[in-house]
Amino acid sequence: MAKSIEFMQNVKSVRDIDIKDKRILIRVDFNVPMDSDFNISDDKRIREAIPTINYCIDNGAKHIILVSHLGRPKGKDSKYSLKHIVKRLERLLDKSVVFTERVDSVPSIIATMETKSVILLENIRYYEGEEKNDEFLSKQLAGICDIFINDAFGTSHRKHSSTYGIAKFAKQKVAGLLLKKEIDSFSKALTSPIKPVLLIVGGSKVSSKLALLDNILDVVDKIIIGGAMSNTFLKAIGYDMQKSITEDDLLEEARRILRHAKEKGVKIYLPVDVVSTDDIKEHKNIKITPSQDIHEGYMAVDSGPASIKLFGEVIRDSQTIIWNGPIGIYEIGQFSRGTYNLAHYIADTYAFSLIGGGDTADAVEKAGEIDNMSFISTGGGASLELLEGKILPAFEVLDKK
Ligand code: 3PG
Repeated sequence: MAKSIEFMQNVKSVRDIDIKDKRILIRVDFNVPMDSDFNISDDKRIREAIPTINYCIDNGAKHIILVSHLGRPKGKDSKYSLKHIVKRLERLLDKSVVFTERVDSVPSIIATMETKSVILLENIRYYEGEEKNDEFLSKQLAGICDIFINDAFGTSHRKHSSTYGIAKFAKQKVAGLLLKKEIDSFSKALTSPIKPVLLIVGGSKVSSKLALLDNILDVVDKIIIGGAMSNTFLKAIGYDMQKSITEDDLLEEARRILRHAKEKGVKIYLPVDVVSTDDIKEHKNIKITPSQDIHEGYMAVDSGPASIKLFGEVIRDSQTIIWNGPIGIYEIGQFSRGTYNLAHYIADTYAFSLIGGGDTADAVEKAGEIDNMSFISTGGGASLELLEGKILPAFEVLDKK
């Protein structure tokens, strides 16, 4: 883990090079949630890209070309057009932005523009070659700039043309300020953390977090497992989880992780009681029972009050807290208490708290604690892969110090 993070920290950043009079292409991650009227419901990812753009403007860059994806469009579905974010971007930059649909139009646009102009390219995933890491598109993107800056942490686990392939052809390729900030924060939590270190892991699937759990045992002192994930662990230790969501093919894996944690001296906390219902949609009947006594036909949907108290004590005793995944169906009011209380407990500590994953960040925001966390990552899948100990592809191809 320490080695992979050290490698990623060793990439050059925009601060390490001369950008004066250069055409700069910045890969940003403007993959933001929008409602059906294209109102942006959370612009964190756009706001987090602003410092690098402003740094380039302030340090004499000639032109700035922004490249991003939005969603996972099949073909040129207008629902995913980046034109919907132009106004917000202009407001945050306090500057006008030129929007263009095609990569090959950029040179002629630049020719007519004043220096320091900002150009936003249409959703790069409209190009078939993007996700295939197509060499032609990579070359084309590299051809419209002198320097490639990757500041799209949320997409840094993808080997796409605009995040990975472009680096092969770009003259200079460096990390943006957000990419640096993300990796430095993960380093603080993972390579030189103040102990004790607590990992809180939730969400629905053990399968998506197996690699993380295996890898993190060398770093953390204790783990709280909640959410539907914990159902599989509770079933693995012999509890009848009734109608709860479980991954039955992973019971042995769950037992192996519990054994492995014990060998390493890592303490694992599972819910001692649960909130359960017989129908998630209607949820007229809600019961709180010990985890081993879920009523017939009921399913666990949140951690119960005794678990929340227990988790609160574990949180209060920690100096570094990494949280990935809600511990209940927090989108439904009655089942949100576990997740929201966790956010409040973490906010009340003086620990370094690192929040990863879109759902977790959303839950922290809804709990009103967004400003009380030390660091909220802009990466979902990317932060997960980082916690798994992987070197993220985007970092792999950047210039090293
Ligand atoms: C994200 O939202 O996690 C990133 O923008 C990456 O999106 P993707 O999973 O569609 O590649």
